[in-house]
Amino acid sequence: MDFSKLITSAIEARKKAYVPYSKFKVGAAIITLDDKIYEGCNIECAAYSVCNCAERTALFRAVYDGHMHFSAIAVVGGAENEENEFSSFCPPCGMCRQALREFCIPSEMKIILAKNLNDFKIYTLAEMLPESFGPNNLNK
Ligand code: THU
Repeated sequence: MDFSKLITSAIEARKKAYVPYSKFKVGAAIITLDDKIYEGCNIECAAYSVCNCAERTALFRAVYDGHMHFSAIAVVGGAENEENEFSSFCPPCGMCRQALREFCIPSEMKIILAKNLNDFKIYTLAEMLPESFGPNNLNK
């Protein structure tokens, strides 16, 4: 898999973040099993709990378009003044991990956390969300 392409897409997506409250911009790019990339950014609201993370924006855009199976997602995040190089990794929140769980095989789904194109770490969703509850628990 071409991780650079996915990370580049996440960096591009991050530019669209709407973050007047946290001023912390996140970008994500998720890739379908048939290699289509969807981008997402975080979108905040004055009623804070309504904020949507970049990962779920990307995921739900793809699901809306009819894609239900994914192989990887790249995530980048940092303060507004950071541009293409980030000082820390931005791991997906618990809610996003659970949302991703619905549409992948956890041991095969890769989560790529990047600071830049050369500095990134790869986990599986199974590592980030062990003993997860998923569709199989409801016999789906
Ligand atoms: N955020 C994401 O978009 N993804 C994550 O994985 C962690 C947090 C957003 C939510 C909020 O807009 C901002 O980052 C600060 O929490």
